Amino acid sequence: MTHSRPLAAVVLAAGEGTRMKSSVPKVLHPLCGRPMLLYVVGALEELQLERIVVVVGHGSEQVIKTLQRETDVPLEFVEQRVQRGTGDAVSVGLTVFPDDLDDEGDIIVVPGDTPLLRAETLAGLARHHDESGVAATVLTARLPDPTGYGRIVRGKDAGVEAVVDHWDATEEERAIDEVNTSIYCFRRGLLAPALRRLSPENAQGEYYLTDAIAVLRQAGHKVSAMESAEAAEAMGVNDQVQLAEVEEALRARINSFWMREGVRMVDPSRTYIDASVSLGSEVELLPGVVLEGSTTVGAGSVIGPDTRLVDTVVGQGATVSYSVAKEAEIGDGVTVGPYSHLRPGARLGEASKAGSFVEIKSSTIGAGAKVPHLAYVGDAEVGEGANVGAGTITANYDGQQKHRTRIGARAHIGSNTVLVAPVEVGEGAYTGAGAVVTGDVPAGGLAKGVPARVQEGWAKARAEETEVETAADEGEAPES
Ligand code: UD1
Ligand code: CA
Repeated sequence: MTHSRPLAAVVLAAGEGTRMKSSVPKVLHPLCGRPMLLYVVGALEELQLERIVVVVGHGSEQVIKTLQRETDVPLEFVEQRVQRGTGDAVSVGLTVFPDDLDDEGDIIVVPGDTPLLRAETLAGLARHHDESGVAATVLTARLPDPTGYGRIVRGKDAGVEAVVDHWDATEEERAIDEVNTSIYCFRRGLLAPALRRLSPENAQGEYYLTDAIAVLRQAGHKVSAMESAEAAEAMGVNDQVQLAEVEEALRARINSFWMREGVRMVDPSRTYIDASVSLGSEVELLPGVVLEGSTTVGAGSVIGPDTRLVDTVVGQGATVSYSVAKEAEIGDGVTVGPYSHLRPGARLGEASKAGSFVEIKSSTIGAGAKVPHLAYVGDAEVGEGANVGAGTITANYDGQQKHRTRIGARAHIGSNTVLVAPVEVGEGAYTGAGAVVTGDVPAGGLAKGVPARVQEGWAKARAEETEVETAADEGEAPES
């Protein structure tokens, strides 16, 4: 971006966000898996600014830590100890700039709670400001319901006269549908003295940044407004309702992006993809899919319906339905579900299968191996092509320690086998139905459980016995 003066930004992120009624600092609330403030920082990053200053206050330690962990954009932090309003916050932000007031610099001001703001819009605002040569340019928007936002009072020449906060506005001013987005571009040398003239005589008893507009006007400077092309970009998050509304808009953006990349989404309104997820071509997502964190899905895989994958890697051509997975790896051509639960460390090799009501944790399932129904496989290695019968359990925990189970390639584990770990079933070995295997089974061997004893005619005998007892209970002597 070419700007005739040095351009920097101040991000306002010190407020508590009382209306969120949450212990989490407002700007850290996640939207599609990413803290709100990171969207704002991400948009600023694209502008290649001289400096980005973040004003922190409420939960400052947590805010700084989160930003340092999740972005490498160079940021400067400055603390606003008492939150005395947006005007005060900007004054605090300006303290990092040299005091010589070289009038040449411009400052973009953005609140930390407008995550839908796009870099193009910011660039447009800066360009507009640069070209019009005014003291300040306000980004405005027309909202169907402007309640809560500051209103833009325009003068005869269409320039901005003042911004009036909702709580201080008259009935007439409240009828104005053009609102302050709280996103501005200022001449730094004019802003600093204007801020010193703010007073907290208003409904909230705060130093309002919005009042700087009227101060600049009264000093004879010009203030311009640029209306945002997409009004939704102005949406600020002040409470949980707005958080959900903004997230819906972000989700729609993410979904449109992936559909344009060739992802098939049966019902985008019921598809939830975190900002950090990545999808291959021709992936198909059925309704009720939730993809979170660092999840990736390879080309041609079909996910859903009703499936939640967290930090999970899915290969190509896999099918995952009605299942939950966290920190799992699902290989190419694997079938998972319906109703599988893959826990951290579950790694399913190529073309293997985890079927209905199967839980797998810290285990490797070899290529082509199958765990088709009702099983718990924990701390195990299942060899290639092995088959784990229904009801099989790895008894991996002795109450103190976890132990491993090894199942060799092409082994057949009979239904309802209990593998008491540590234990090893050799290559191609078998276990019988219901076997409780406490010792190793050599390759090609068989471990058989205790078969049930058969009693002929038992049901009839019991029926007769019951009849006799009933008669006795009713006090009648059995006929002889
Ligand atoms: C503000 C504007 C309003 C505008 C709206 C757009 C003012 C007085 N009002 O209202 O005109 O329509 O944004 O979303 O500016 N903050 C600090 N320190 C403070 C106070 C606030 O850093 O002392 C930060 C907050 O963390 C937040 C931002 O400034 O990120 C805006 O504050 P907020 O209380 O949300 O202002 P609004 O009532 O939304
Ligand atoms: Ca706000």
